[in-house]
Amino acid sequence: MSLSRTYHDPVLAVKVVELLVTDPDGVYVDCTAGGGGHSRLIADRISEKGCLIACDIDPDAISEAQSVLPSATFFLQTSFSELKPKVSQIAADGITGAIADLGVSSFQLDNAGRGFSHRYDDPLDLRMNQNVGETAAELLMRLSLDDLTRTIRTYGEDPQARRIAKAIIAERERGSIATTGQLAKVIENAVPATRNKSLARVFQALRIAVNNELDELHSLLPDIWSLLKPQGRLAVISYHSLEDRITKSFMKSKAAPEYDPRMGPLLETPDPEGRLVTRKPITPDPDELRENPRSRSAKLRVIERL
Ligand SMILES: C[S@@+](CC[C@H](N)C(=O)[O-])C[C@H]1O[C@@H](n2cnc3c(N)ncnc32)[C@H](O)[C@@H]1O
Repeated sequence: MSLSRTYHDPVLAVKVVELLVTDPDGVYVDCTAGGGGHSRLIADRISEKGCLIACDIDPDAISEAQSVLPSATFFLQTSFSELKPKVSQIAADGITGAIADLGVSSFQLDNAGRGFSHRYDDPLDLRMNQNVGETAAELLMRLSLDDLTRTIRTYGEDPQARRIAKAIIAERERGSIATTGQLAKVIENAVPATRNKSLARVFQALRIAVNNELDELHSLLPDIWSLLKPQGRLAVISYHSLEDRITKSFMKSKAAPEYDPRMGPLLETPDPEGRLVTRKPITPDPDELRENPRSRSAKLRVIERL
């Protein structure tokens, strides 16, 4: 197995740090430490009194982050859904800010053996934490035609979900689909005209399903919110509409009414707990898009606790 290590360029890095680190003596949580990109920039901005807690579900990401972050950093290998009590043990009085940069890192995409990318022929795994849960290969063997169709349609938003699901079921009747290469071939044969788009969509769908990503996000947002001190901020970078919808609707539900001079209050939140720092999501500028094409679908939203 060959390892081609890629550095993960932190997306919207300047904006994240500018909007998140409001108090150099504060306590900051990076919920998605990954290759340590955002964490490193936060560490550079905080004082000796400040504190950084770097979390990730992936043990390999935690090792990577440990190699690039200051020794004063706290490291937690944890899923979003188990993060709150672990962070509370370190930051009993609450936190000043948190960032969640969702999805996969370049480190995970490009490290052979994980199955995140259809560009490599790897075992069809796709788990963020390879020590627990069902692999994508196991999931493909278990799901019914209807459930597989629903997974590809809902999480991959592929209009040809049924056709692809049928092809996968036909292939699995001949034997297991154990590698990314095997799955890619099934998809390419089923929908040759849209092969590239469908490959990306099906891999996204399987990744979301295997890692229970949307439920994890649903549990992270209120948990982090409850840990934030007044004036503390939560920044979320999402990469597809499903994540962004959850984030946007959570933030709007917490925010003070927005005022449009022509229409009056747009949102009636009786007892607002927060203020939207970004009314519209921030997206990468042309320079960043050129230098880091993987940032292309990124949307940054930030909210402040009142
Ligand atoms: C886009 S990467 C973060 C990259 C990081 N911001 C950097 O600049 O290096 C997303 C990270 O989130 C982690 N992750 C995804 N889902 C998670 C979950 N449910 N709980 C904890 N970590 C998760 C992944 O393992 C991955 O390392």
